[in-house]
Amino acid sequence: MSRTGLVARLYSHEAEPLLHMHKDDMERRKLGDGDLVKVKSKRGSVVVKAQQSTTLRPGQCFLPMHWGGNAMGGLGINVLLPGNFDPYSKQPELKHAAVQVEKYSAGKSLVAMRRSEADADGKLQPNPHAVMARLRQWLPRFPYASLTLAGRNAPVVVLKARGDDLAPELIEALDRDLSLDDPTQVLSYQDSRRDVAKRARVDGDSLSAVRLAGETKAAEWLADLMVQGHSAAAVRPWLLAPLTQPPAGQSARGKIICNCFDVAEDEIAEAFRAGETLDGLQARTQCGTNCGSCVPELKRLRQNVNN
Ligand code: FES
Repeated sequence: MSRTGLVARLYSHEAEPLLHMHKDDMERRKLGDGDLVKVKSKRGSVVVKAQQSTTLRPGQCFLPMHWGGNAMGGLGINVLLPGNFDPYSKQPELKHAAVQVEKYSAGKSLVAMRRSEADADGKLQPNPHAVMARLRQWLPRFPYASLTLAGRNAPVVVLKARGDDLAPELIEALDRDLSLDDPTQVLSYQDSRRDVAKRARVDGDSLSAVRLAGETKAAEWLADLMVQGHSAAAVRPWLLAPLTQPPAGQSARGKIICNCFDVAEDEIAEAFRAGETLDGLQARTQCGTNCGSCVPELKRLRQNVNN
């Protein structure tokens, strides 16, 4: 993310706050990638998703310090850190803390997304930063929440949360914030017995807003559909279905590896599987030829495919 957190493409490397952990520590806690964990220090706690890392030793974990209360539930990552500071420069200790990590599975999940597009004057409609500002007020309601952007030229505001309190008035207010409050304009699914409620809005051919409450299995591929701006016509019957994968014929791009040239993991792995060399891939897509920060990841993918 950027210092302001307002540039969509800079969320491509890491879409939300993630606790990086060694695989042994994850296995001991029965954790998989994307599972929620409560990270607790002497001073406070946060709830974030866990992700396996090959760069850490057992007993260590890593959480970028840049995520603040404007982008996540609670007070942000710094709430975990000790109150120590350098007596001369007054620089606070912002790099190390002793923490406990435990699996977190309470509550119900919520995902809300809104896509913006440029109008004839080149202005994004709706203004994604205004949408974020409206959604930000809900962050303190949830033990786990992240509010981020996805995509590039047509950014998508993404709110993910988990909490006990998915009260009808909260859902109604969210729908107003996301332009999902007109029943004649949206697809709607309601299962009161299971406490599942979903809405989606298609404008023209594009999926412009989604709100999933109580069951959010389709969140990832729906986000991908919004980011890519692909036609929603072919998948309209499945927009509110509990599918973790897009219907046949559609495919998610996977994680963006080269942020400079918008090249995704699946595309890179597919190229290596088809026998393309790293030089060939770079000549064709330009990935890795600007800032170079993705080159180690490109090499790792090439090695994985060759093994
Ligand atoms: S991320 Fe900059 S060249 Fe790939």
